Amino acid sequence: MSRILIVDDEQSMRQMVAIALRQEGYDVVIAEDGEVASRELQASKVDVVVSDIKMPGLNGIDLLRFARENSPATEVILMTAYTSTESAIEALRLGAYDYISKPFEIDDLKATVGRALERAELRSQNKLLRRQLSTRHKVGDLIGRSPGMLRVFDLIQRLADSEITVLITGESGTGKELVARAIHNEGVRSAEPFITINCAAMPPQLLESELFGHMRGSFTGADRDKQGLFVAAAGGTLVLDEIGELPMEMQPKLLRVLEDHKVRPVGATAETHIDVRILAATNRDLQREAAEGRFREDLFYRLNVIQIDLPSLRERTEDIMLLADHFLENIVAADEESVLTGFSSEVKDLFLRYPWPGNVRELDNAVRRAATFEGGTVIQAENLPDSVRAGGAQAGKTLNAGPRTGESRLQDQMLGDLDAAAAGAGADPAIIPDEGLDLEEHLAEIRSGYMIKALAEAGGVQKKAAAKLGMSFRSFRYYLDKLGLRGGEGS
Ligand SMILES: Nc1ncnc2c1ncn2[C@@H]1O[C@H](COP(=O)(O)OP(=O)(O)OP(=O)(O)O)[C@@H](O)[C@H]1O
Ligand SMILES: [Mg+2]
Repeated sequence: MSRILIVDDEQSMRQMVAIALRQEGYDVVIAEDGEVASRELQASKVDVVVSDIKMPGLNGIDLLRFARENSPATEVILMTAYTSTESAIEALRLGAYDYISKPFEIDDLKATVGRALERAELRSQNKLLRRQLSTRHKVGDLIGRSPGMLRVFDLIQRLADSEITVLITGESGTGKELVARAIHNEGVRSAEPFITINCAAMPPQLLESELFGHMRGSFTGADRDKQGLFVAAAGGTLVLDEIGELPMEMQPKLLRVLEDHKVRPVGATAETHIDVRILAATNRDLQREAAEGRFREDLFYRLNVIQIDLPSLRERTEDIMLLADHFLENIVAADEESVLTGFSSEVKDLFLRYPWPGNVRELDNAVRRAATFEGGTVIQAENLPDSVRAGGAQAGKTLNAGPRTGESRLQDQMLGDLDAAAAGAGADPAIIPDEGLDLEEHLAEIRSGYMIKALAEAGGVQKKAAAKLGMSFRSFRYYLDKLGLRGGEGS
């Protein structure tokens, strides 16, 4: 149902217009002045505002400005008591849909409101159209329109059907994993397995048997034959993620596989032929690692047949709002209660100025966090992480901070990487630092880490977040209050 907000300081006028528009089947809300109206605009989705121009305090023109800034999807119709063309023209210039002079025929008002609603509808269709256009700036799950990303898209398309080994490089959070996935999905192997192994996450002995497999009895605990990932990925793609962390002793073995397309499981005598497309990813400068003796040069050249180097987000500011809108759309699509429509211009400004050391992942998290805490329809700067609000004055600190106090660590969890926060929350609880530990505080910190993560995953819906954690809504809200995190109304 279309929602109309009527604003007039004169009660009889408000009532008359409200009755007339309710007859048309609209959901009508009224406000006696501009202040109340602006709060309503922030709190709920309003399709059309019908407002008097002359009101004490925030007048109709002020309200119009406010609406354009904070609720861009809303159309505004102004009513003037005398045909003051000057203020009417000013109103149109500022983006009002139309103005209507008092006294007016109620049918004229109804018709004007009807047309304004049509335009609001068109506007949202335009938005759809824009979204369709923007899908051209898309390969797989990657979006971007900067020249740097368009080059990446082009490379992905051209490399997808080949067998060439590709080294994907770029800072953390720039989308390397998505690129690997896109190369696989766009290519002839897309129906076959896509397997990623993180070379940093495993001790060397395990890594070898994970990659190559092992024979039963080849070492203690090997109580059956195990197929390695090179074989499991047969016909498909194997991604060696964080290849820069591959232990030195493993490097000649991997080199042999790349050269001969054969693997020998640990403890086996025979080799198996493999048919796998290899992709490797790293956020390190492998060439330098090789020059400095930390990575085998021959392996580097073998992997680096073609390199896709992802630009950092600060090198492609054209993509920032495209990505931010995309992340917000995903949040709204996943939560039917969400009323979020966009970002305030202050937020856009800050987004463009901030250097994003954590790149796209950090932007995603910033949008998620702001969406979680935003009580209105437009994301405001106050809900951004401190680092972003500071406009980059603290850039870099968030990523590589040294030891921190419990409180600032909690702050970082809230403000920084939500994924990292959850990982931290799951850390080994059995380690007691030498200087002792405040268990209550420690547990509270872990709880808040999970709550923030759950809130983000629930798109900010507190009831859902509470359910995810098996907490009652009441106690969830209680702890949220304690953290000072309960912005807006409890949903
Ligand atoms: N161009 C993009 N379009 C949409 N989402 C993106 C884009 N680039 C990155 N992302 C998102 O940002 C996050 C980080 O991306 P990804 O995991 O691919 O980064 P990465 O370069 O592999 O980082 P790391 O070096 O830390 O492993 C993911 O949630 C991903 O979906
Ligand atoms: Mg990655």
